[in-house]
Amino acid sequence: MIGVFDSGIGGLTVVKEITKQLPGMPVLYLGDTARTPYGNKSAQTIQQYALQDAQFLIAQGATVLVIACNTASATAYQFLKSKISIPMFDVIIPAARKAATLTKKKRVGVIGTRATIASGAYTAELHNIDPAITVEGQECSMFVPLIEEGWAKKGETTRIVKLSLQGLKTKNIDTLILGCTHYPIIRNIIQVKIGKRVKLVDPAEEVVKELAQYLKAHLDLAQSLRSTVDHRFMVTDVTEHFQAIAQSWLKRSVKLERVSL
Ligand code: DGL
Repeated sequence: MIGVFDSGIGGLTVVKEITKQLPGMPVLYLGDTARTPYGNKSAQTIQQYALQDAQFLIAQGATVLVIACNTASATAYQFLKSKISIPMFDVIIPAARKAATLTKKKRVGVIGTRATIASGAYTAELHNIDPAITVEGQECSMFVPLIEEGWAKKGETTRIVKLSLQGLKTKNIDTLILGCTHYPIIRNIIQVKIGKRVKLVDPAEEVVKELAQYLKAHLDLAQSLRSTVDHRFMVTDVTEHFQAIAQSWLKRSVKLERVSL
């Protein structure tokens, strides 16, 4: 199965994308809801957690891994690559590639959690592709709790988005990476506040495109992934609130299974 992990339920935006781009492909999802958020933790702790998440999914039968979490991708992908031997996809590389092709002015903005921005992973990847690109990072730590509290449509959220993006608006960017699992949910508000002309990149969309391409080139693996029946949603802590968010984001009935890592 395709193993997808995240610090919590945010990674369901990647599952949604898998359902769209790879219909009928079952997912083994792990959300570390007991230890969420990762975005305000140290790189060392995030690496430890991410390794446990990945090893758990492999033990459950995952044969390919997607790190849905931007924070874990930014701080732990290289570390995990040295420990894990199955194919693994992070969200940073595909999103950076897309942004590099979209930017005309070679000025790209990145928003994400504190840990993602502090890691400099998006900047490093964009410079890897094209050293002439200027990257402007902005942490937007307030967005995750607002979205998880169901405040996405409230005026307060719109005001906080405006305030958080004020600095970036003066940087003359033409492309903005939504570097956190939750941000696609308030994509429209971000678009309005950063300006209509700025192109938005959704890492969830890009990583699944990359996975789909890989599976096209590895048909045996693709075939074996299809052999199981349905998605499984595992979390390290279950609450009614997580359950309700999962169902409303995926627009289907979801049974969260509690697991211990
Ligand atoms: N899933 C995280 C990310 O994409 C956001 C939530 C957290 O901080 O754990 O960065």
